[in-house]
Amino acid sequence: MKRIVLFASGSGSNAEKIALYFADNTQVDVSLIVSNNPKAGVIERARRMHIPVLLFDRTTFYETSQITQLLLNQNVDLIVLAGFMWLMPAELVRAFPNKIVNIHPALLPKFGGKGMYGHYVHKAVVAAGETESGITIHYVNEHYDEGQIIFQASCPVLPSDTPEDVARNVQMLEHTHYPKIVADVLKLKHE
Ligand code: GAR
Repeated sequence: MKRIVLFASGSGSNAEKIALYFADNTQVDVSLIVSNNPKAGVIERARRMHIPVLLFDRTTFYETSQITQLLLNQNVDLIVLAGFMWLMPAELVRAFPNKIVNIHPALLPKFGGKGMYGHYVHKAVVAAGETESGITIHYVNEHYDEGQIIFQASCPVLPSDTPEDVARNVQMLEHTHYPKIVADVLKLKHE
């Protein structure tokens, strides 16, 4: 059984898609949802899906080993960042080499880095007059959005599109692809 843990800071729609995708899969256990935000929508989604939630604050995350130790003790096979907005601490990255994946709502290396998350990304894409945007799923290292790319998918951006339009199209790509790419990374057998 592969054990995965989801990290999310906000609404948690991707976290929910992934958890539901694996709900009946005998090879995967979505054992925990981790969040830094006590007001995050993901907490209610986790409750509905009967998945335990762990909340932590900045001091615990960056100045102690608690989260890393807990994940090591639970023998976590893959950490999946699904709208998690804090940089992963170096110690956590080192403890899980090539075992942390992230989704970014743009075509990296464009529109990545500190401050480029969520709605800010789509605003920047529209402001730059881009004709396409999309998603990037990548391994996580100690820098924002710089780990090795695993998968990208794109969607057109029309001149009339608002950041909200782009966000909607990108989110559709996320929901379609992220669960399957997580399954690929886990190298599951077909059921
Ligand atoms: C998603 O679009 C994800 O790509 C983005 O946050 C959104 C979370 O939505 N992540 C980042 O910007 C990370 N840099 P969700 O909470 O509904 O899954």
